[in-house]
Amino acid sequence: MPKNILVSVAWPYASGSRHLGHIGGAYLPADIFARYNRMIGNNVIMVSGSDVHGTPITVRADDEGVEPIEIVNRYHDEFLSYWEKLNIQWDNYTTTMTDNHKEVTQEMFLKIKENGFIEKNKSIQAFDLKENKFLPDRYVEGECPKCNYLEARGDQCDSCGITLDPEELINPKSKISGNPAQFKETEHYFLKLSALNDKLADWLNTKKDWRPHVINFSKSFVDEGLQDRAITRDLDWGIEIPDNELGDGKKIYVWFEAVIGYLSASKEWAINNGTPEAWKDFWIDKNSESYYFVGKDNVPFHAIIWPAMLLAYGGLNLPTNVPANQYILIKGEKASASRGIGKTLNDYLDEWNPDSLRYSLASILPEQNDSEISEAEMIRRNNEELVAAWGNLVQRVFSQYINNFDDIDTSFEYEKIDEELLEGARNCFIKTGEMIEKVELKSSLQNVMAYVNTINAYLNETEPWKVIKEDKKRASGILHCAITSIDACATMFTPFMPTTSKIVSDAIQKEDQNTWGINEIKKGAPLENIGHLFKKFD
Ligand code: MF3
Ligand code: ZN
Repeated sequence: MPKNILVSVAWPYASGSRHLGHIGGAYLPADIFARYNRMIGNNVIMVSGSDVHGTPITVRADDEGVEPIEIVNRYHDEFLSYWEKLNIQWDNYTTTMTDNHKEVTQEMFLKIKENGFIEKNKSIQAFDLKENKFLPDRYVEGECPKCNYLEARGDQCDSCGITLDPEELINPKSKISGNPAQFKETEHYFLKLSALNDKLADWLNTKKDWRPHVINFSKSFVDEGLQDRAITRDLDWGIEIPDNELGDGKKIYVWFEAVIGYLSASKEWAINNGTPEAWKDFWIDKNSESYYFVGKDNVPFHAIIWPAMLLAYGGLNLPTNVPANQYILIKGEKASASRGIGKTLNDYLDEWNPDSLRYSLASILPEQNDSEISEAEMIRRNNEELVAAWGNLVQRVFSQYINNFDDIDTSFEYEKIDEELLEGARNCFIKTGEMIEKVELKSSLQNVMAYVNTINAYLNETEPWKVIKEDKKRASGILHCAITSIDACATMFTPFMPTTSKIVSDAIQKEDQNTWGINEIKKGAPLENIGHLFKKFD
């Protein structure tokens, strides 16, 4: 029975270029997972879009002296080019600027309010006396009360990951004027997280297979007792509050509406697809599953606040899993676009072919721990693993087969060593599939690469290039077996390296085409010469 699987991926702020850390943190793992699930016949929609509201956008626009829309259009276009160059296969990549998103957001706001989980409340808000205006969270910076990081923002500390309110910061300052932030009373809408605390705790307790760092973080967050959180802000740039009871100058908080994007993008996908009700298969059908691919700084919003909103709304599926990644560290610092650490993605996209980049990144995914990446390590992976192990294997077997094509004798029979190699492929399919389903992508890739090495060892043992001189039949059997196992690798590599895997797979003629399993290769069929798949870097 095919499953319905929603693959939700963090919405990148359209406020600056992305870097390798973002790709390895969310987009690549999501794409690998989605491609695999499509291959095995599940119904998949992978959705996200550019997050266009909030202070990251307005801060940038202020810095450049342009309108927010100019920033948004620039980076949204840039993001689209990433997806194309990296082969990230979306079912819907949209933005939070659409009418659809606004309608879905406002409907959700009103229903949650009607259900009693949104209430007006007075709050103390940071205020810049000199500028005479209230300061949204990201316009306030100061010291983190938990880890003492000095550049924590009013909404979150990038160092320890805790979510914050500006008044919790030590020595809060206005980002606009640099003056100490004052605090004044104002009125906002609040999401009553305190009233959802127990339900959330119960739900989190059902999650036995989440990554330890995600579940531990989420549980301790809820155990500390959730505070009600303001879900409106003093900003002009954002989605209007549907009831307009707070007066002008206030909008829905970006995080409250951005997470709703998963739902609105699914609805938009359904409309674009000509099946307007089909989003329900992913959101209401109890057997469907949903996976949220995000970086660890987004865990609170995906493992706590979004589930809380869904509980408050009622009737929609909560996340099956939030397989958040840790950080990719570049020389020990978190890769960060906003702080300008690391090369931009465009630098890499210019220099690397997409599959090499996907491979190098996938082999260091920070699934359990922060992971260091250096360009030297990426190049080593490319040269030693992709070029020397996999690329060479394909090259050497293909050329032997093509060069000796006239001598191929299809009356061979397999020997024990051949059967063992193919048994290895069968096991590799099972193991790799299981690992991908558990979102252990780094290990699943290592698993396929280990099988590549098994094929190389098989060839060193059987030496078809020598055997062909004395025993054409036996050499034909070895080459057929090697091609069958290479074809299996191409299948298993497809979610990770879709372009080059397809080239290998398409070059090999088959009797049948399995989606996730060994194919029967046509005996004695010609093999297309595909040349070198990857290039070696100096
Ligand atoms: N824009 C946020 C960021 O870049 C992520 C938003 S994820 C969403 O960190 F689900 F809220 F959209
Ligand atoms: Zn901190």
